Amino acid sequence: MSRNAELPIAVVDSGVGGISVLRELLRIMPNENYIYYGDSKNAPYGQKSKSEVLEITKNNLKYLKGLGIKALVIACNTATSAAAQALREENPELPIIGIEPAIKPAAKLGENPCVLVMATPLTLQEEKFRLLAERFADREEIIPLPCPGLVELIEADDKDGTETYLEKLFAPYADRKVDAVVLGCTHYPHVRRAIARYIPEGAVILDGGEGTARHTYNRLSELGLLRRSHETGKIRIINTSTNPRLPFFCKQLLYKKG
Ligand code: DGL
Repeated sequence: MSRNAELPIAVVDSGVGGISVLRELLRIMPNENYIYYGDSKNAPYGQKSKSEVLEITKNNLKYLKGLGIKALVIACNTATSAAAQALREENPELPIIGIEPAIKPAAKLGENPCVLVMATPLTLQEEKFRLLAERFADREEIIPLPCPGLVELIEADDKDGTETYLEKLFAPYADRKVDAVVLGCTHYPHVRRAIARYIPEGAVILDGGEGTARHTYNRLSELGLLRRSHETGKIRIINTSTNPRLPFFCKQLLYKKG
């Protein structure tokens, strides 16, 4: 089935998190049209069950397909774990790109690096994460770090609450040699600077946004779906609730690193 290259790429997340992925998509493909779909009404996803997130994501895709889209980027690790496979099976005509914690790039950091993986409880419970961690278990020491409640602090732009949370989260690792901290939730790059203040000295921060954007570019290129126009594309923002911070995050974060 041929699809109009002019149609937008839909980028979905439970709220403001996916904007960190949209930012990377815009760096690589500024001339594409986008719909950013922030599902604040159903946030946070990370403490829901897999079947709830699957149902929500299916409904979101149904709505977006009704608007007309040429690809779906699930800019949410949690929704990717819970729903990407099922959505691909049900929508074989639509390119669906997901995101996963950057465990693969962490393997390039040297011999058996110690890697802390911050993510939502659901991402870390899911089979997708278990299989990924198993694949790299002989090359990395992987320590999952569930972060219930952190998404809510970021959504609320609660800076003090975020600092207190992070200080407590990383305190047990202060004296450990840690090589990398993986941001396994797309909300976390928004507080990258705060995270950098609390992680063990010498650890690097990795996130999957850039890899997801490159993967999206490659898929669209293979399918002949890249927009040919060199004009800057349009971004339409949809929020399923009335999160007053969504436009703020869009303006603040699309053009500079968080
Ligand atoms: N941004 C989502 C992720 O990457 C999680 C947000 C949530 O818990 O709603 O996992």
